[in-house]
Amino acid sequence: MNIKDLYINFFKSKGHVQIPSAPVVPENDPSVLFNTAGMQPLIPYLMGEPHPSGTRLCDYQKCIRLTDLDSVGDKTHHTFFEMLGNWSLGDYFKKESIAYSYEFLTKVLHIPQNRLAITVFKGEENIPRDEESATIWKSLGISEKHIAYLGIHDNFWAAGSIGPCGTDTEIFYWRSEEEVPEVFNPEDERWVEIWNNVFMEFNRLEDGTIEPLPHKNVDTGMGYERIVSVVENVNDNYASSVWKPIIACIEKVAQKPYQGNETEMRIIADHIRTSVFIAADNVGIRPSNTDQGYILRRLIRRAIRYAKKLGIDLESNWDEQIACTIMDQYETYYQEIKDNRQTVLQVLKDEKNKFAHTLEKGLKEFDKVIEKTQQIDGQTAFHLYDTYGFPIELTVELAKEKNIPVDEKGFQEKMHEHQEKSRTASKGKFKGGLAGNGEIETKYHTATHLLNAALKQVLGIDTHQRGSNITEERMRFDFNCDHKLSEEEKRKVEDLVNKWILEDLPVTKTQMTKQEALSMGAEAMFIEKYPDIVNVYQIGDVSKEICGGPHVTHTKELGKFKITKEEASSAGIRRIKAVLEHTP
Ligand code: ALA
Repeated sequence: MNIKDLYINFFKSKGHVQIPSAPVVPENDPSVLFNTAGMQPLIPYLMGEPHPSGTRLCDYQKCIRLTDLDSVGDKTHHTFFEMLGNWSLGDYFKKESIAYSYEFLTKVLHIPQNRLAITVFKGEENIPRDEESATIWKSLGISEKHIAYLGIHDNFWAAGSIGPCGTDTEIFYWRSEEEVPEVFNPEDERWVEIWNNVFMEFNRLEDGTIEPLPHKNVDTGMGYERIVSVVENVNDNYASSVWKPIIACIEKVAQKPYQGNETEMRIIADHIRTSVFIAADNVGIRPSNTDQGYILRRLIRRAIRYAKKLGIDLESNWDEQIACTIMDQYETYYQEIKDNRQTVLQVLKDEKNKFAHTLEKGLKEFDKVIEKTQQIDGQTAFHLYDTYGFPIELTVELAKEKNIPVDEKGFQEKMHEHQEKSRTASKGKFKGGLAGNGEIETKYHTATHLLNAALKQVLGIDTHQRGSNITEERMRFDFNCDHKLSEEEKRKVEDLVNKWILEDLPVTKTQMTKQEALSMGAEAMFIEKYPDIVNVYQIGDVSKEICGGPHVTHTKELGKFKITKEEASSAGIRRIKAVLEHTP
């Protein structure tokens, strides 16, 4: 049986409810482009809000970490991975959490106990040493010599600079043919971390201080790709059953063996897989020059460049074959992969058509430039971007291979001159971070539901949310629509929302089964994301949506709603930006 199924079954047998994977793009969290950990969609519940599925949860969550992008090509790094996780929301704590992990690893996966070693928090910065966890591990039979005590840097975990956090205990596995050492040395790379159990009992505030959370939680995360490679006893993740069919497909389309071409094949495998998951997400990300769309574009274009390097005929359907192999493998676990198969293939094909032939010319241009100058100035980098579609990261990578510098700052300046085309996502945004759940975000959240309802009345009932993003300054809302909104349509939408605000409609929350919610006509953007029991927020009788909240209690709190911009987002998708203005 697949380890994902073994994991879910095990935690179900311990009273956990399986929740579906959230989309790769977090909802209403502008601080990150993608979910980077299983806990990210659960932040409101770790902060104290009751979860509709109860206090014991488990899942496998689609995660994307871009900090590893440049390392992809080696044996272990991936941009996309699945994280197996189990949570206690104010339910069990250290004792059960550690015992469950231990039982799963040794009894279900049959990992020999002596191949495991543990780190626990040594005590630092006013947070006490975690003797409790160490004692529990020893009581289960872990030798004292296989336990190491480390500090804040290693055994304290948080998703971002603010929000839920706590000390953790990490489980390591001895991945080597050599004999297991008597004493655990966490610095020795043959010990690989396989599971992290975080005891989330604190909330970190903006000023860096730490306060206790309403209740003590457990948040665990185990990378699926890594645990599979451990259980299958392979040293190269890409040699495990997760990647084998994908690599075999690349060998076939390239007519070359994996051996000797590992780096290129790993990059292609990784980037196409991540692109498949981004493009299949129901939020509808398409290649573009900003935010998530830019990442998707970069990944596909980098895969194309490596395919060319391997001598794959770019005109052939190599990308389709690889993507289909990937989707065959995942569709039983992710409904959206099944539903959006054709869309994914189209996205890959369109992007390939845009890039494949300019790549050739761009590479020639690149060679011509470096013959003359031995450096790439901002203007040239911009020219490669603007004319040949080279993401700056691609130019930097090519230059690095030739050992020549790129004036990235000069490139950025040129980009700013062409503001319209520039990507707005700053580098910092790619790192972890947390959603704001402040007063103003809450208002925007409720306004989002009203806007969704108003668009349906003005444009037709088939109008649905395709994306949403909230900052303290504004809300952004994407929806399907085949035309630019007329002034009249925009005014009608604004007027409706403002009418509902003035009516001071009550906002109520009801728990019900997903089926009940759907049959009462509740709107849901990502139906597969929701657990069996859901919260439905109703606003008077104008809006019903499945949603995690939070929301205001009465619409009058929202102030005045104003559309500031209406524009195209991608094919068939329009985007509205709007603000709430204070009313006296
Ligand atoms: N949230 C923890 C991690 O990602 C479990 O490591």
